[in-house]
Amino acid sequence: MIRFTVNDQDVALDAPPMSRLLDVLREGARLTGTKEGCGEGECGACTVLIDGVAVNSCLVPAIQADGCRVTTVEGLASDGRLHPVQEAFLRFGGAQCGICTPGFLVTAKALLDANPHPTRAEAREALAGNLCRCTGYQKIIDAVTEALAGPDVDAAATSTPAC
Ligand code: FES
Ligand code: FES
Repeated sequence: MIRFTVNDQDVALDAPPMSRLLDVLREGARLTGTKEGCGEGECGACTVLIDGVAVNSCLVPAIQADGCRVTTVEGLASDGRLHPVQEAFLRFGGAQCGICTPGFLVTAKALLDANPHPTRAEAREALAGNLCRCTGYQKIIDAVTEALAGPDVDAAATSTPAC
């Protein structure tokens, strides 16, 4: 039995200890927001936080989360309100097909928790392990760097055109 906290809920799941955390979250805990892209640690689509640290859940044995605090994309919103970075992705058009989006959002949360006002260079570095085939990255970086700027930001004026 593997016991951990996911999005502030205690869970105890009967899973082989070396099963992937990604599978335990999606199939055991029914939290399907975390996506599988490459399954090889290359794309970041499966990113979750373990005790606040961003990890590729496709590479993490579930037993490594035992006794830990796991955060998935489902845990970003609270009290019915989206996390600021989720709001910013909406304002700036940071999502297209959406496969990469949960991983970007979770990685961005970890960045913003550590550094509430990242520069574009800091955001690019923090998100370097997350790949997107759709957006060209500009709108994602716009969203992350403007995430805490508030809803009055004129996205059209501050957004850089996608390449
Ligand atoms: S699915 Fe885990 S890094 Fe791509
Ligand atoms: S929005 Fe499609 S892969 Fe990123």
